[in-house]
Amino acid sequence: MPASPAAGSPSNTGSPSNNRTAAVTAVGHFLPEKRLTNADLEEMVDTSDEWIQKRTGIRERRILPPDEDKATSYMAARAADELLEKRGLDAGQLDAIIVATVTPDMLFPATACLVQAEIGADSAFGFDLSAACSGFLYAFNTGAHLVESGRQEKVLVIGADTMSSITDYSDRSTCILFGDGAGAVLLEPSDSPASAGNGYGLQDAYQRVNGADWHDLHQPAGGSRKPPTHGTVERHEHFLKQNGRPVFKQAIKRMAESTEKIMQRNDLAPEDVRYLVPHQANRRIIEATAQQTGLPDEKVMINIGRYGNTTAATIPLCLHDWERQLRPGDRLIMAAYGGGFTWGANLVSWAYNGAEVTTASETLGASS
Ligand code: UT7
Repeated sequence: MPASPAAGSPSNTGSPSNNRTAAVTAVGHFLPEKRLTNADLEEMVDTSDEWIQKRTGIRERRILPPDEDKATSYMAARAADELLEKRGLDAGQLDAIIVATVTPDMLFPATACLVQAEIGADSAFGFDLSAACSGFLYAFNTGAHLVESGRQEKVLVIGADTMSSITDYSDRSTCILFGDGAGAVLLEPSDSPASAGNGYGLQDAYQRVNGADWHDLHQPAGGSRKPPTHGTVERHEHFLKQNGRPVFKQAIKRMAESTEKIMQRNDLAPEDVRYLVPHQANRRIIEATAQQTGLPDEKVMINIGRYGNTTAATIPLCLHDWERQLRPGDRLIMAAYGGGFTWGANLVSWAYNGAEVTTASETLGASS
């Protein structure tokens, strides 16, 4: 049995209370084809490729062109399609769909409902989870609880955001940062051998929320506090606003603190960790977090240069990009900090050999 939390430790953290763990059994992703480069942004606002690369590490981002039929649910559904194909499953076998997003297609119905209909997940329930850049971490933890409880067998966890729909392309301090994309994982009960210790899958989770400084990163209008009017649109209040400097400092502090907490209470030295999978908000934030936690560059997943900050999608997009290098038992620490403010870290033991993953189309191509 896993150890019970030490006296006085918070109750929203720790390992599952039974031996059934929730493992990642497949990864999917979707990125729109259109690229928004730093050179494009130089034409739109007073900025430079040099400033953006030096201050953020971003070279380009993907953008989903405005289209009423193709929004966040579209990208989420494509990520789900890829994942199901890789795992050889039918959407009807899914029990639940959780979509982490701050850019739902509509305030309601939930994006998860639209994904359910689009992919034909006829036996699933689902809901959206709003925790900004920590959304995927929270959704992963929530989905894992569904599996660990024994009530659900196959839970689809998606992080998807169309940040271009709430980005003000006349504000140089924010428009250089964000991009669009979706990533997904499937969580299933682990059938790990005893040699895998606590089993594959989610081993530990540390998560926090504190709303005191919400105004440092928010979208002022469009909700019940400030319903949309001509005035809110004229004042650009339906776009996200960020006070970058304090968010930058807090992001490093909280991501490092969460990662250290996970390492300490699981007795992990840097050499025991295969990869840090950090939320991709700014390359300097990621590097400072890694440095504070003693994790060398080669153990840190960084793809912000190509995609920018895709909010809930950054962590699963990293998992997609590094999937082929992952092996059973690899320990990953996913860490994030985002609007709310929300933050935390998840410890995951990887469950399969990523080098052996093929999609059905690859298999067909290989045999023809
Ligand atoms: O994912 C959710 C969490 N979000 C984050 O973690 C993001 C956290 N914040 C950041 O990544 C950084 O604060 C930014 C990238 C947003 C800004 O970088 P910074 O190094 O903190 O710059 P700053 O805001 O302190 O601004 C420095 C200067 C200012 O000029 P002055 O006042 O020194 O003359 C800005 O006006 O850089 C200027 N500046 C720009 N210059 C060229 C701000 N944006 C730009 C730009 N191009 N795009």
